[in-house]
Amino acid sequence: MAKPLRIGMIGYGFMGRAHSNGYKRVSDFFDLDYTPVLQAVAARDTAKAQVFADRWGYKRVESDWRKLVAADDIDAIDICTPNNLHAEIAIEAAKHGKAILCEKPLAMDVAEGERMLAAIEKAGVPNMVWYNYRRIPAVTFAKQIIDSGKLGRIFHYRAEFLQDWTIAADLPQGGAALWRLDAKAAGSGVTGDLLAHCIDTALWLNGAVTNVTAMTETFVKERTHQLTGKIEPVEIDDACSFLCHFKNGSLGLFESTRYARGHKALYTFEINGENMSLKWDLHDLHRLQVFDYADAGNMRGWKSIHVTDGDHPYMDKWWVPGLAIGYEHSFVHQVADFLVAFAKKQPAHPTFRDALQTQRVCDAVLASAKSHQWVDVG
Ligand SMILES: NC(=O)c1ccc[n+]([C@@H]2O[C@H](COP(=O)([O-])OP(=O)(O)OC[C@H]3O[C@@H](n4cnc5c(N)ncnc54)[C@H](O)[C@@H]3O)[C@@H](O)[C@H]2O)c1
Repeated sequence: MAKPLRIGMIGYGFMGRAHSNGYKRVSDFFDLDYTPVLQAVAARDTAKAQVFADRWGYKRVESDWRKLVAADDIDAIDICTPNNLHAEIAIEAAKHGKAILCEKPLAMDVAEGERMLAAIEKAGVPNMVWYNYRRIPAVTFAKQIIDSGKLGRIFHYRAEFLQDWTIAADLPQGGAALWRLDAKAAGSGVTGDLLAHCIDTALWLNGAVTNVTAMTETFVKERTHQLTGKIEPVEIDDACSFLCHFKNGSLGLFESTRYARGHKALYTFEINGENMSLKWDLHDLHRLQVFDYADAGNMRGWKSIHVTDGDHPYMDKWWVPGLAIGYEHSFVHQVADFLVAFAKKQPAHPTFRDALQTQRVCDAVLASAKSHQWVDVG
């Protein structure tokens, strides 16, 4: 019989739902030593939190996250709030000895991330950051192929994450649903929100980034703030592009924007090695595109692998070959991997330490965009 891991959820928005779904479904499909129990949810608006708790099956509601992180009936705290609250909650949860699952980006900046890392490592608590794209089977499969050495020497890594939802100049900033446009809540714009995902995947697949040169743009300079009602300067980056060197000698090219009309969430990456190239696209997430130079010359071409077979990562836990799974399953997989690591008292990746490295690249990108210089990543 699996032991309970009692979850204290903070925030009931997009990620509050995605994670709750992961906790609820994981034990139906994975054999685990621990099973998540939806114990309590904390949010400032208790009436709304109660609606969320009733829908998802949380046992109780707290009006203040501080009470939740101190509660005796909670084993793990899940931080699903805007970015400016991650550090305070994580540091407090660590003091109370809770396991911590924190949404990305880890922190508002490297200095804050370092404080978080010091706190959780001092407390010795299990920790993980929700860079969930690693757990999409086609992405995990790409990792397995790269780690096998089949690509040979790597020359290029490129990634983009394109959206179009902030083009309207009359869209307000700040407050519910629009905190991503307010630098005080988000820290940065597309760099921390979208490129952070691309960077995490890149570091995982292709290793460390040594230096970067970047440009950012804020296309709409002022927006009404939902909380103050005043027109205020927009301080986030609406778009960001950067070049980088990887430690393995390959070159990186990254782009993200919320102004690419027609694109909703087009996260793509491509890696080019001397023997093989791989390509992936979030809009077609169960496929991995592979070009293998070892194929006979007259048979060479890009092939599209439908990553749904039982010998593909995670897929033996789901249906039968040929039947696809989706975005939400990346969270189920991340919960499963966390619980396995938790039971074995091993790190669950990406840990806070891993995520701090992504934060270092983000900070270097923003510093380079400001200085117009190449910046080394610490
Ligand atoms: N892993 C991913 O793919 C992914 C996707 C989306 C968002 N995120 C990250 O998840 C986090 C949350 O984003 P979201 O899209 O769920 O946002 P959201 O706006 O949908 O939800 C945020 C929640 O935080 C709550 N909140 C705000 N201040 C609070 C406080 N003081 N105390 C308690 N609760 C508070 C809000 O009420 C809301 O329920 C962010 O850090 C974001 O970057 C990650």
